[in-house]
Amino acid sequence: MHTPVLQKKILEGLSPKPNENFIDATFGFGGHATDILKRIRPNGKLIGIEIDPAEIKTFKEDNSFNQEALDRLILVNDSYVNLSKIAKENDLRINGILFDLGLSSWHFEKSNRGFSFRKDEALDMRFNPEKNQLTAFEIVNYYKEDQIEKILKEFAQEDLSKIIARNIIKARDVRPIRTTSDLLAIIMNNLPKWYKRRKIHPATKTFQALRMAVNNELETIRKGIEEGVGTLEKNGRIAVISFHSLEDKIIKEMFKDKESEGKLKIITKKPITAKFNEVKANPRSRSAKLRIAIKI
Ligand SMILES: C[S@@+](CC[C@H](N)C(=O)[O-])C[C@H]1O[C@@H](n2cnc3c(N)ncnc32)[C@H](O)[C@@H]1O
Repeated sequence: MHTPVLQKKILEGLSPKPNENFIDATFGFGGHATDILKRIRPNGKLIGIEIDPAEIKTFKEDNSFNQEALDRLILVNDSYVNLSKIAKENDLRINGILFDLGLSSWHFEKSNRGFSFRKDEALDMRFNPEKNQLTAFEIVNYYKEDQIEKILKEFAQEDLSKIIARNIIKARDVRPIRTTSDLLAIIMNNLPKWYKRRKIHPATKTFQALRMAVNNELETIRKGIEEGVGTLEKNGRIAVISFHSLEDKIIKEMFKDKESEGKLKIITKKPITAKFNEVKANPRSRSAKLRIAIKI
């Protein structure tokens, strides 16, 4: 369902030990959590936070964890922005926290929520449709042109943000933009030839930017890291995997600020990235960057 990235490096960096307690702030299908649970045996607990209720439901149906691991797993359907509250409610001292940011392969392949321009689905893109009111449909059909342009520019550095925003406005004057295929056709229409020849698909950045806006991802990451650092025990470790430069910049700067405030010691002066073999086996790892720090 989802091959975890930088698996070995995460374990080395977080260094889970018997009976320690951990938080996996982005549980997904528990690829990383399963490794951590093994290392913290026999009594260590892991709180898995996952924002997507449908993903949690699918994880439970898949039933891929053994009973011994399930007995030490506390799975919570919430956002990691509430991490310290969740740790307190469970009355656990936390020795390590992992953030594996973004979305899982399941979102693209199975969620049916319009994350991928390779599928024909309604434009939704919410991680939690039960709590979040804002959809990608709402943004492309109701936001002003300059707001759409700003989203494309700020969240994905889309070079053609102006042109794509204009095309969206023109298209929606004719009829609502309902599906991923509608949006894809609008993006592909009238693009300069040089743009179509680039390695990256012309729709990648627009879809990424909309998803980030719908889920307020950058602001959420800032809050999550803040909460994580506040929650960790002394000598506890925090590891963050990010998948694009904007996220990595936030982590890098926050870690530096916390180091100068005397709250963290950075272990990874440069981010750890995947080696050739991992990228070959798991293309998602190509853009992954891992940063680790210790609470002091
Ligand atoms: C890259 S996947 C994690 C995969 C996981 N490490 C695994 O091995 O299966 C990121 C996960 O974080 C979840 N997520 C995104 N934003 C979140 C948030 N604010 N709070 C909690 N989970 C979040 C997504 O729904 C997705 O399942």
